[in-house]
Amino acid sequence: MIHHQLIVVGGGLAGLRAAIEAKDAGVDVAILSQVHPGRSHSGAAQGGVNAALANHPEGHDDNPEKHAFDTVKGSDYLADQHAALQMTTDAVPAIYELEHMGCPFSRFDDGRIAQRPFGGAGYPRTCYGADKTGQYMLHTLVEQAYKRHITMYIEWFVCRLIVEDGVCRGVVAYSMTKGGFEEFRGEAVIIATGGAGRTYSTTTNAIISTGGGAAMAYHAGVPLKDMEFVQFHPTTLYTTHILMTEGCRGEGGYLLNRDGERFMAKYAPKAMELAPRDITARAIQTEIDEGRGIDGKAYVYLDLRHLGAEKLAERLPGTRDLAIHFEGVDPVYEPIPIVPGQHYTMGGIDTDVDGRTSMPGLLAAGECACVSVHGANRLGGNSLLETIVFGRRAGTAAARDILGHERSSGPDGNVGAAAAAVEAYVDDLASREGTEDAYAVREEMTEVMRAHFGIFRDEATMKAGLDKLVALKARLKKAKLRHTGGVWNLDMIRTMELEGMLDVALAIASGALVRTESRGSHARTDWDKRDDERWLRHTLACYEGDDPPKLDYTPVDMGLFEPQERKY
Ligand code: FUM
Repeated sequence: MIHHQLIVVGGGLAGLRAAIEAKDAGVDVAILSQVHPGRSHSGAAQGGVNAALANHPEGHDDNPEKHAFDTVKGSDYLADQHAALQMTTDAVPAIYELEHMGCPFSRFDDGRIAQRPFGGAGYPRTCYGADKTGQYMLHTLVEQAYKRHITMYIEWFVCRLIVEDGVCRGVVAYSMTKGGFEEFRGEAVIIATGGAGRTYSTTTNAIISTGGGAAMAYHAGVPLKDMEFVQFHPTTLYTTHILMTEGCRGEGGYLLNRDGERFMAKYAPKAMELAPRDITARAIQTEIDEGRGIDGKAYVYLDLRHLGAEKLAERLPGTRDLAIHFEGVDPVYEPIPIVPGQHYTMGGIDTDVDGRTSMPGLLAAGECACVSVHGANRLGGNSLLETIVFGRRAGTAAARDILGHERSSGPDGNVGAAAAAVEAYVDDLASREGTEDAYAVREEMTEVMRAHFGIFRDEATMKAGLDKLVALKARLKKAKLRHTGGVWNLDMIRTMELEGMLDVALAIASGALVRTESRGSHARTDWDKRDDERWLRHTLACYEGDDPPKLDYTPVDMGLFEPQERKY
């Protein structure tokens, strides 16, 4: 057994920021991560991070209240309003803190941090480092973690929470490089494992974005909130679904259909290409579905040619590289074929603004958590922001609990029991009869999610999808491990994580089927209006073992902004 006062699961931006805060408060903290923290999915974020710095010539009167309003309106009024204001208020010092840590943001000529327009925002308030903002922020925080000698367990797969008497006491993890399971016990655990994009076949998300942390909390009895709200990024490469940043449109890029028409004029006449993501993704999908894709095919164009080679080199160099290498198209000379793709999980582990969950000793931050600040549709640039704001707040809260001696790591008598239970479980997986192939189940699940819980939804399609997920979950029980024990047992990791992915998928599906309205990213063709009277409330999915989840509902925190029709 290994002990640290605070165990942070996940080495991306939220996990690093939480660990740094707790370490600075005097807590012994360890990060456990499947990959080196510098390779976390946070590094794939491109276009920027929002904060009302008011640096842009057109944004001098921007402020956190206006940022909160845009966030709440963008969320289709499902965001908790005081939480959104907390995030936008914390945003400004959070960006200056990163700047002081050495994050290489792009600059205006006067030396101040540069800001660009992003979708659904009333002002240009997205701070950026060219189109590699996530990578710059991630590397900055990795440096800060090393500087503080924060302990990192790299290439450890965390598979279970240790829960005793309803209190989280630590985690069980598999050492990918040495083999074997180990208990990590502590006074608090922060889950910061990112989103669940890999439950979909067409996603911008990395292979590690499986929803594993959310599934662990869910299996342990913590509800998942608002899981039916899944974001589809409007612009991903046609053949690979690699992200083409919203920064392309922020810098003036056009969306064109087969007639060369800037079709956003029909869907968002004022905002045009800078409408929020839910509206823009639906517009693109409608153009494709109605036969106005390029040459009748299932994509439209993102056109950057008019920006010129110099601007692309300065502001969007990574985008150009990705388009050349993965689509064979040079945006200086040719428009880029794009389609919407799964990008972000708005729902997640139900937490308060300090990352606390309903389980003592368990906190969560970042994309795996649902505070909720994104509601039914997140604004671009608010996800990097969420990681640093709520990562820091979770680190502060955990440190306060630990240093206030409100938590203990549990009775010594239980040490070893949780790891032994996981080992027994893996032995069982290996000794099953094994008529099913876990890899086939996984592939089918991702296709079901794409086809049945995509941009447009309706009852019959979702019902059929839910039934398929239930059947896949039953089939997974008949899958046998091909490999047992040893090091780098990816067969075991993938099978264990698939159990969680199916339950996360079922939470998405169940919440979506029952919600008979259209709100933000949840667009139903059979219920095409928002219904505040019945549905201005959060969904809580509670794990029910072999059955689909039990759904509960809680009120949305209002009081700052009256719901209105979203027009852009
Ligand atoms: O388009 C982007 O650069 C992505 C940003 C985000 O998801 O916030």
